[in-house]
This record gives sequence, structure tokens and C-alpha cells, in this order.
Amino acid sequence: MQNILITGGAGYIGSHICIKLQENGYQPIVFDNLSNGHRDAISNDIPFVEGDIRDAAALNKVFEDFRPAAVIHMAALIEAGASMVEPARFYEVNTAGALNLLEAMRRNACKHIVFSSTAAVYGNRDAGLLSESLEVSAENPYGRSKAMVETMLGDYASIYGFHAIALRYFNAAGADSMGRTGERHDPETHLIPLVLQTAAGQRDHIKIFGTDYDTPDGTCIRDYIHVDDLADAHVKALGHIISSDHAASDIANIGTGEGCSVKEIIELCKEVTGQDFTVVEDSRRPGDPAKLVANPAKAKEMLGWQPKYPSPRQIIEHAWNYYQTNLLKS
Ligand SMILES: NC(=O)c1ccc[n+]([C@@H]2O[C@H](COP(=O)([O-])OP(=O)(O)OC[C@H]3O[C@@H](n4cnc5c(N)ncnc54)[C@H](O)[C@@H]3O)[C@@H](O)[C@H]2O)c1
Repeated sequence: MQNILITGGAGYIGSHICIKLQENGYQPIVFDNLSNGHRDAISNDIPFVEGDIRDAAALNKVFEDFRPAAVIHMAALIEAGASMVEPARFYEVNTAGALNLLEAMRRNACKHIVFSSTAAVYGNRDAGLLSESLEVSAENPYGRSKAMVETMLGDYASIYGFHAIALRYFNAAGADSMGRTGERHDPETHLIPLVLQTAAGQRDHIKIFGTDYDTPDGTCIRDYIHVDDLADAHVKALGHIISSDHAASDIANIGTGEGCSVKEIIELCKEVTGQDFTVVEDSRRPGDPAKLVANPAKAKEMLGWQPKYPSPRQIIEHAWNYYQTNLLKS
């Protein structure tokens, strides 16, 4: 069984990937500083190392102890809004932290990596579906901190012989279809869990930031991708890089190709939960693009991946199921 090092594996998406890795015969090794993750989000049969990607010695020790065949690099600060206030932290963790990891990989002759990139690298485009061939033009330091890592991966591939795939996730959402793990960010900033918290009466109201965008209902449009489908894309990407020994650095969008507006998500949440609640319209937030929808053709062609749960309703149903059984208990 091959060991796969997963940085940030105790986080929302990471915990789903751990399940998928085990189901596909890999042994995940989680490295996470628990700044935003949860120890109990991963099962006890998965080796867990509490550590920070900025700590070169701690990373070195993980490579020596577990000799991973590949790395899935997810550890990062994730709030685009916070990056507009504290950019240095984002460059330190997301960019310098990634460089630290790449150097640990190089020292330990591990050359296969799947990197968690983001649709935020595209910025605000007046384009239809976003394809990987577009030039990156992130609107915020978060997106730029990730775009820089994509550039580094290109250099590590061409100069050091790495085989890397950067997956540009669109909006990860939902929960494990069997309810084993789900989204527990603190503070929560993602739309669907915030709306569900409002439906459950744990928030007074849900705010819409901006109703004057150039979109059919004036609210931002995003491409919501089920977290199980995202996890599946990682397993496929791993298989792709591990099975070939050549150097390459590829990028693939992970999205459905369909957009859904903030207002549409709120309406769907009302339908799924059967609850009505207060919606407050507020002004735009800086750095929020009007529309981000993937062209997912490359992931299909290169990885043989396509989403099993493309419907936002099903995404919300799985999220609500997890929320009710796990987060409303206390
Ligand atoms: N959630 C989304 O919609 C989305 C979209 C695009 C990209 N991404 C990327 O996917 C990855 C995972 O996102 P998520 O939503 O699961 O977030 P998350 O915050 O739940 O997971 C990130 C994990 O990284 C850990 N971490 C943070 N800084 C660390 C450090 N310095 N050292 C070690 N561990 C550290 C946190 O404790 C957490 O467990 C991130 O890289 C994020 O940028 C997420």
C-alpha cells in the first residue's frame, strides 16, 4: 500500500480525500497544524502528525518516517476576504509554506504532487466558462498566493523533474454522501453552511453581498462542486501522476461547468430545509468576482473525471443531512 502525505488533511476537503484514499487502497498520512482542521475529522487508523508546513524540520521528519509516494498539498489559509486585510500571512503560509514543502520533497526524492489551487486565480473575467489556458489574474492576495505556487510547480517540473497537477477547485460544497464528514469551518465564511445555519435558527439572517452585479438576478454566480467529486478528482490525479514517471506540471479545473447564483442557492436551501428565514441585501465585498464557472473539459479528458453529483440541490441535501446529524446535536 502506498503512503500518501496529505497536508491540511484534517480540514474540510482533506477529511473527504482521506476517506476516498482509503477506499482506493492508499494509506493517507495527515500533516496538519489544526489551525482550522479537526483531529476527529479523520479516523484513528490514519497516521496523524501535528505540524506546520512552515517548519522544515517537521516536514523532513514526516518524509523520513513515512516515505510517501506522493503528496496532496492542501494546507493553506483559505479566506479570500481575510487576505485583503492581512496579505503577508497568506504569502507566508500559502506560498512560502508550499516552497518549504517542495524543498522537503526534493530533499527526500519525492516528486509527485497534487496541489489544491483555486478558481480565484482567474479573478474577475468577462468570459463565459473559464479554461485553464486563460492567463491568471487573481483579484486578491489569496488567489495570487496560490497562482505563485502553480508557477513554482512549473519550475520544479522542468528543472527538478517533478510531476505535478494543480487542481483549480471552484466552490467546494456539500458533505460526504454517507454523512461521515462534512464542513466545519470556524469562522464559517462559505455560503451554503451559512445559509443552513440560518435555516437552523443559529443565525438571525443571511447576508447577500452585492445585488447589482452584471448577472441575471444581480447576485454573484459560482460553480458549486460536491466535495465527494472533488475528492474523487484527487484520487484520479494521483493515479495519473504516480503511474507515469515523466516530468510534467499540469493544471485542471474541478467544477461542474454550471453556475448558480447566491439568490438561487438561498432559495434551494429554503426548499431543502423547509424553513423560511430573513435575507438581508448588503453592498459588494471587495475582491469578489461576479461570475466564476469552470470549463471542466480538461479534467474529463486528462483524468477521466466527471462529477457524480452536479446538482446544487443534492449538494445542499448532503450538507443539510450532515448538519442535522452532526452539528445540531449539541
Ligand atoms: N473550500 C473551497 O471551496 C476551496 C476552493 C478552492 C480551493 N480550496 C483549497 O483547498 C484546500 C483545503 O480547503 P478547505 O476548505 O478544506 O479548508 P480547511 O481550512 O478546512 O483546510 C485547510 C487545512 O490546512 C490546515 N493548515 C492551515 N495552515 C497550516 C499550516 N501552516 N501548516 C499545516 N496545516 C495548516 C488547517 O488546519 C486545515 O485543516 C486549501 O488549500 C484551499 O485553499 C478550497
